[in-house]
Amino acid sequence: MMKDVKFQFENKNFVVMGASSGMGRHITLDLARAGAHVLAVARNEERLQEVQKSFPDLIEVQTLDVLEAGPEDWDRVLGEFVEKHGKINGGVYTAGITGMSALRMYNEDLAHRILDTSFFGMTRFIQGMAKKKHAEKGSSYVVFASTAAHYGNRGQFAYSGAKGAVCSAVRSLAKELYRDKHRINSISPGWVETEMVVNSRNEIGDDRIKNIYASYPLGVGKPEDVSPMVLFLLSDAARWITGTDVVVDGGSLAGTD
Ligand SMILES: NC(=O)c1ccc[n+]([C@@H]2O[C@H](COP(=O)([O-])OP(=O)(O)OC[C@H]3O[C@@H](n4cnc5c(N)ncnc54)[C@H](OP(=O)(O)O)[C@@H]3O)[C@@H](O)[C@H]2O)c1
Repeated sequence: MMKDVKFQFENKNFVVMGASSGMGRHITLDLARAGAHVLAVARNEERLQEVQKSFPDLIEVQTLDVLEAGPEDWDRVLGEFVEKHGKINGGVYTAGITGMSALRMYNEDLAHRILDTSFFGMTRFIQGMAKKKHAEKGSSYVVFASTAAHYGNRGQFAYSGAKGAVCSAVRSLAKELYRDKHRINSISPGWVETEMVVNSRNEIGDDRIKNIYASYPLGVGKPEDVSPMVLFLLSDAARWITGTDVVVDGGSLAGTD
C-alpha cells in the first residue's frame, strides 16, 4: 500500500488487459482504490470476478482471448464500457506469456504464441482503444515489455524478441497517437513474483534461479513495486512522457558488482 503518494482517478475510466493475475490484477485494484472505473479483461472469468469483488461498483469484467479477438470484439467490449461511463482515459496491456525457445528445442508454434500475446495482441488493443469513439483526448497507454528486451535471457530469444518489439513499436506509435494528444510508454519490469515466474521456475531450474535472485541489488519484485509507476504514467503528472521505456527492476540491469 502506497503511503506517501496518492493518486486520484475519480471520474476517470481505464481498461486493464490481463487483469486476472499478477501485475495486471494489482494495477486494476490500485486504479479502483484511486476511484477510477476499470474494465478488467482477461480469459479467466472466475479469477476476474474475484478481482471485481473488492470494488464491485468500480470494476467490471469482460472475457477476451487476445489471440482470437479481432477489431469487432474490441469494439463491442470497449463500446459497452464507453456507453456506461463515457470515453476512456487510458489503458494498460499486461497480457503476456513466457516459455523457453532455445535453438536446440525450438518450437515455432510456441514462439508465435509468445509474440502474438505480447506484441500483436498489444497492437490490436491500442488500435481499438485509440479510436476516437472510445478515447478521451490526451489518453495514456502503458504496455508491458520486460528487462528481457534489454538483457539476453538465455534460451528465451522469442520472449526477448517479443518484448524488444514492444519497446520499439512504442516509439513509433507515440508519434502517431500524438495527433490526439495521447501518450504511450512501455514498462520493463525485472523479476516479479507472480504466477508467470512460478511457471518459469520449473523450466529454468533451481541453480539458475539462485543466480537470478543474486543479481538483484534490491531483491526480486512484487506487483506492488511496479504498479505505482504504471499509475504515474497514466496520470497527468506524466504529461511530458511519451514514446519511451521505463525500467522497474530492483537495479538488476545495473548489476551487482
Ligand atoms: N513476472 C515477471 O517477472 C515479469 C517480468 C518482466 C515482464 N513481465 C511481463 O509483465 C506482464 C504481466 O506479467 P505477470 O507476471 O503479471 O503475468 P501473469 O500473472 O501470468 O498474468 C498474465 C495475464 O495475462 C493474461 N493473458 C495471458 N494470455 C492471454 C490471452 N491470450 N488473452 C487474454 N489474456 C491473456 C492472463 O489472464 P488469463 O489467463 O485469465 O487470460 C493474466 O491476467 C507480461 O506481459 C509479462 O511478460 C513479467
